[in-house]
Amino acid sequence: MQLQSVLDKHPRSEDQLIEILLEYQATKDNHCISQEEILLISKHLNITESKVCSVISFYSFFSFVPRGKYVIQLCKDIPCFLNNSGNILKVLENLLGITVGETTPNRLFTLELTSCLGCCDKPPAMRIDGKTYTNLNPDKIKVIISEYSGKQL
Ligand code: FES
Repeated sequence: MQLQSVLDKHPRSEDQLIEILLEYQATKDNHCISQEEILLISKHLNITESKVCSVISFYSFFSFVPRGKYVIQLCKDIPCFLNNSGNILKVLENLLGITVGETTPNRLFTLELTSCLGCCDKPPAMRIDGKTYTNLNPDKIKVIISEYSGKQL
């Protein structure tokens, strides 16, 4: 979908910024917002480019850099850390063959760390494209990644 068609659906109001970013980024294969697109959005909403950039920076579900189809965000905060999120990270890195901040060569997965997902009572936790997974262990990780990749691991 073209950015202009997304912009045309929204009033020229700053409070539309997050909705526009969400809607447009979801249509893109690389799941990120480019500098050129930031400029177009800022002009449409009559706000500065830095305002658009600050919103993209603030929310972990937005990105300036290309990402895979599925973005895996593992919680890095203390309750999850104390419940073996470090081991979960190693399992993910081994299964995917990438480290934090990288995207698999087939552009299916990007691996990231994130702040608390609000599931501290069921650690460790991670989110994949808005869906949250809790009480993670290596076997559960293999099943989840198999489901997303479409092949048995
Ligand atoms: S600290 Fe990990 S979900 Fe809250």
